[in-house]
Amino acid sequence: MRRQTVRLHSPAVPGPAMTGEWWRRAVVYQVYIRSFADADGDGVGDIAGIRRHLRYLAQLGVDAIWITPWYPSPMADGGYDVADYCAIDPLFGTLEDADALIRDAHGAGIKVLIDLVPNHTSSRHTWFLEALASPPGSTARARYVFRDGRGAGGAEPPNDWMSGFGGSAWERIMEADDCPGQWYLHLFDKAQPDLNWESTEVRSEFEAILRFWFDRGIDGFRIDVASALVKDTAFPEVPPEPAGGGMPDSHPYFDQEGVHEIYRSWHRIASEYVPERALLGEIHVATAERLARYLRPGELQGAFNFPFMRTPLEATALRRVIDETLRTHASVGATPTWVLGNHDEIRQVTRFGRAYTGIRSRPQDERMPSDPTLGARRARAAIMLVLALPGGAYLYQGEELGLPEVEELPDELRQDPLWNGTGHEIRGRDGCRVPMPWSGEVSPFGYGPHGSTPWLPQPTDWAALTAQAEAADPESMLSLYRVALRIRRSLSALDGGPFGWLPSAAGTLLFARAGGFRCAVNFSGATMMLPSGRSTILASAQIEGDALGSDAAAWFHEAAGQSR
Ligand code: GLC
Repeated sequence: MRRQTVRLHSPAVPGPAMTGEWWRRAVVYQVYIRSFADADGDGVGDIAGIRRHLRYLAQLGVDAIWITPWYPSPMADGGYDVADYCAIDPLFGTLEDADALIRDAHGAGIKVLIDLVPNHTSSRHTWFLEALASPPGSTARARYVFRDGRGAGGAEPPNDWMSGFGGSAWERIMEADDCPGQWYLHLFDKAQPDLNWESTEVRSEFEAILRFWFDRGIDGFRIDVASALVKDTAFPEVPPEPAGGGMPDSHPYFDQEGVHEIYRSWHRIASEYVPERALLGEIHVATAERLARYLRPGELQGAFNFPFMRTPLEATALRRVIDETLRTHASVGATPTWVLGNHDEIRQVTRFGRAYTGIRSRPQDERMPSDPTLGARRARAAIMLVLALPGGAYLYQGEELGLPEVEELPDELRQDPLWNGTGHEIRGRDGCRVPMPWSGEVSPFGYGPHGSTPWLPQPTDWAALTAQAEAADPESMLSLYRVALRIRRSLSALDGGPFGWLPSAAGTLLFARAGGFRCAVNFSGATMMLPSGRSTILASAQIEGDALGSDAAAWFHEAAGQSR
């Protein structure tokens, strides 16, 4: 193969080394606390469990952890139903444990992000209990979205909005006189009433919550359902999905213009701190341009790149979504992020082993046959793509071990509200939340003390997938992640530097970063020829001579001897 010259596009934003804005390149590891490590043996992960594995995280080479909600909660949605935002659920530990974790993590060079759930509280939050006990029109009700019903006696819900977990998004309550009364909005489970962000009290309460945690030393927040806080107060029906899927351009509760002012006020608070704290949004909107509006200066510093996560492993589609991401983020001076999985999605090893490797909707994507060996091979290639792209990356616990989706859970143990909410039509998200295997030959595989029973059963064949077993195997997924992360840290080419595509055969991707760094990704089904003068840095699969097999990726320098 002839050596090519390539014009690299200069980055729209400077690298983190130049600005100290760590989030611009950070690899953030998502800790799903219930399933990470259970120090006290009650079957549920806890803060002490995270502290025990900080060394593992430091060795893995991540810059930050994002811990899913740890607040007091009835756990109707795994903790995304918060009863008190300024405390820790006893299941997970105490505020002192949280302080100790923040201190230890910082000592290990790891930043700590926590999950903020501002769209809804738990139905056991004191505010909601007060709202139930107060009359229609009261200030207590005004913190939530209460409305009278339609039809005779108000017996019909106020509109046709649907809950994300199935059924109507409205629940009727009994008033003090024991008669059916008003309805409240819950975009998720009925145990998760939506807050009313028109209320100034709600706004100031959340500003106080931000300060509470920033003062304790956390480095930032991941913001749950960040684009849904503000509702169209006329409560119109949701327009139909556009042909081809996705979200309608104008939606009554996603991406309302008013939501930006909330993030501008939060940004002002975050920037009062030194170093500035980060705000990362879980944002679902219609287009990449709409997403970028949340990342304008003075709003959020980052957002999960869900369009990338949903894209199947096909070169043309990947190139399109990467270009769109780079273009729209550059237009506002923001840094892109790349993500393959999280606690809401089917694990990538399983997804990538299927005929369709992208994400559509659960009823379509669940229950398709999967080849786990092919899935793992593709997952190795995909993470090398992710870690070579400009910007930050999110990892979800267990992906570094190549954990598959656990599809065969006993139905009676399933806890995801999606399972019951959809009348068992959708299995739900428990399969990607099975507790981590750390060591040993049998469950709990070091997740909890010997003899303890994890809250979801671990497959008996996970002995080969424990962190201990994989650390000892240079060919394992864990070894690949560790080496790739180490190289990523050490290569200044990947530090916010330029990016440019090189010509490559159909079904493959080839791109350049500074200093002659190249990333080749092959999803073509055929062999991809790499330049023979190259010096290979890392490959997801054996390279035969110059031939990179299908479903594989390689990092190399353009020519032997070229400096890094
Ligand atoms: C987010 C979380 C998800 C949760 C939902 C409701 O999408 O990632 O796990 O169920 O919000 O809080």
